[in-house]
Amino acid sequence: MISSIETHLNLPNKEAYLKLIQPEHIDQLYQLLESNRKYLQKNIPGIDSLQTRDDLERRWGTSKENSLQFGLWLNKNQLIGRCRLTRDVNTCSADIGYWISETFQGQGLMTSAVEQLIKFAFEKWNIKRMEIHCGGNNLKSRAIPERLGFSNEGISQMYPPILLNGQMLESIVYSKNNSIEK
Ligand SMILES: CC(C)(COP(=O)(O)OP(=O)(O)OC[C@H]1O[C@@H](n2cnc3c(N)ncnc32)[C@H](O)[C@@H]1OP(=O)(O)O)[C@@H](O)C(=O)NCCC(=O)NCCS
Repeated sequence: MISSIETHLNLPNKEAYLKLIQPEHIDQLYQLLESNRKYLQKNIPGIDSLQTRDDLERRWGTSKENSLQFGLWLNKNQLIGRCRLTRDVNTCSADIGYWISETFQGQGLMTSAVEQLIKFAFEKWNIKRMEIHCGGNNLKSRAIPERLGFSNEGISQMYPPILLNGQMLESIVYSKNNSIEK
């Protein structure tokens, strides 16, 4: 059972919050995807496989116990981005994926959102290690774990090279260990 109280995360000093995506948010998410499709295609593989509202609901709209799909909202209920937090209970680790609407880049909103997800995963899931995998050429994405003090561990084994826009791209894995004493 996924508790909605535990999964509403405010972003300190920002008029924004993270909340689990629910069925009633799918239309809003679909509109956001459509208005950002070309921009997202540059860096996220598999956008072309999200053509219909149902595709979207299946892939980004449904949280499972070990993989949570969050929307990033401004306080007036405007959806501006999306984050996924997935844990591997065998290795006691988790990883995060994210995107924000092109219009809302450059304000530190995603860095703050990722910081809250890390806190959530360390405190509530008690994971030992957080990973973020970024396209090697995606400097804006890489800047987020770098800003948050992650270590660069080099080429990711979890996400093998992918063909994106005619180019083979490797992913870089960043990691951070849980230093919260229990
Ligand atoms: C990757 C992505 C989320 C980064 O977005 P972003 O806006 O750069 O990230 P943030 O919201 O954390 O904002 C950081 C920017 O805000 C600025 N900023 C302003 N106030 C800030 C604050 N309080 N804290 C941190 N940064 C702040 C930073 O200087 C930085 O600006 P810069 O890029 O000019 O240096 C976004 O580019 C995106 O969604 N891209 C398409 C999808 C994608 O690539 N996803 C990742 C796949 S691996």
